[in-house]
Amino acid sequence: MARRRIDSIIVGERQREDLGDLDGLMASIRDWGLLQPVVVDADGDLVAGGRRLEACRRLGWTSVDVRHLGELSDPERRMLELEENIRRKDFTPIEHSRAVVGLASLVRSLARLENRADPARNPRGGRPPKPGSYRDVQQRTGIPEATIRLAERHVAAVDHYGALQEAPQDAAVAAAKALDRLGEPDRAPLLMALERGMLTANQVAAAAERRWRVTDLPRHLAKQIGTAPLLEALNGVEPYYVDAAAGVALLCGDALELLPKLNLEAIDLVLTDPPYNVRRAYPNGDQRADYATWTRAWFELVPRPMVVSPGTTNLALWWAMQPPDHVCAWLKPNPCSGSAVRGWNVWEPLLVYGTLPKKLAQDAWSMPVGPQIDAAWHPCPKYLPFWRMLLGETTNPGMLVLDPFAGSGTTLLAARDLGMACIGIEADADYCALIVDRLEQARRQETGAA
Ligand SMILES: C[S@@+](CC[C@H](N)C(=O)[O-])C[C@H]1O[C@@H](n2cnc3c(N)ncnc32)[C@H](O)[C@@H]1O
Repeated sequence: MARRRIDSIIVGERQREDLGDLDGLMASIRDWGLLQPVVVDADGDLVAGGRRLEACRRLGWTSVDVRHLGELSDPERRMLELEENIRRKDFTPIEHSRAVVGLASLVRSLARLENRADPARNPRGGRPPKPGSYRDVQQRTGIPEATIRLAERHVAAVDHYGALQEAPQDAAVAAAKALDRLGEPDRAPLLMALERGMLTANQVAAAAERRWRVTDLPRHLAKQIGTAPLLEALNGVEPYYVDAAAGVALLCGDALELLPKLNLEAIDLVLTDPPYNVRRAYPNGDQRADYATWTRAWFELVPRPMVVSPGTTNLALWWAMQPPDHVCAWLKPNPCSGSAVRGWNVWEPLLVYGTLPKKLAQDAWSMPVGPQIDAAWHPCPKYLPFWRMLLGETTNPGMLVLDPFAGSGTTLLAARDLGMACIGIEADADYCALIVDRLEQARRQETGAA
């Protein structure tokens, strides 16, 4: 490295003609010096650093640090100049904002160390800025106060909502401001849509500004949100039936064999009603000597959170296996079965394991149980209106639900109705065929198809 007079450096025809705004660069060189020398060849021709050289000249410098390259052919020199410009990767919007915030904060701490206003910093007269104030930082760095403030809001937005990381600065700031005003149940689906690339930050801001409620999220959008993770979760396992547009898939087979083949990371909630081992007329008997071991086996395979309707006779077993994190209740003001275990016939426990994707507004619901006429071929179909309500209370549209014991397909139908994606598993082939009938009927009703 050597020192060289600026007027001895020959600036020939440059590949970058527009030097742009040099104020910021000049302020930086003035305060920190020339951190990166300019590059010249053996003849004193400038190879790289045209902007730096011009900034130094405008600051009134007469000489600069230079790096000398030896004899260079014309193509070599052009190559070096281009290299410098091309290889320098532009900051992403958030990298740029972080750099501005970091620089402003460093300058602020240094200025505060000076601890008194410097009149020299106010060349136009008047009161010098307070050390470390925005005006002071602007004068020291050449970065406008509004730019620093915007960069700070941008960094805060991305730190709070990681999904805004890739968004342009203005859009990220607007989306964060709008999201802040929403309650958690309305914010969550919008954030999820953003994370999954289904909405841009601008669209999220617009949606949140209009204060959309979760239920306002367009059904088709909710479905799209859920469909990609649905296919991801299937992990190449061939479904018995899939309606990708509706976001539902049914696997026919033993849950214990199929679960390990799925990618369960994408599942937002497991909602299930397993066999109770009470000799229901399932084709597979519903009577296992190894019920506790079998239950533990699938319990350990499924992800959390999970809402399970355990069956009253098995409550002790569930507690012994693992006490739930929460217990909810379905109060049935019209008990429909006798009190087989001395009680429990007017309310049904629902066990929650893990943290639900949505905060519960209440944890007990009263709803009379009604017949499931279209599923009467199954010995114990859940009552669809209650199951749908339970799913809506615990999960947001667009999320992906898993039911490893699909039975008559109630969870699949409830999810379909609510704009959620769902994977169901059912071991019995006849039930699977009947689930498909139910799902197809729902599809026909929705599309108006015959
Ligand atoms: C209590 S029922 C589920 C009823 C369902 N909630 C509904 O609303 O229709 C349990 C279901 O699990 C199925 N099943 C039993 N063992 C299974 C296994 N290993 N894998 C998948 N499904 C199984 C049974 O055939 C039965 O249909």
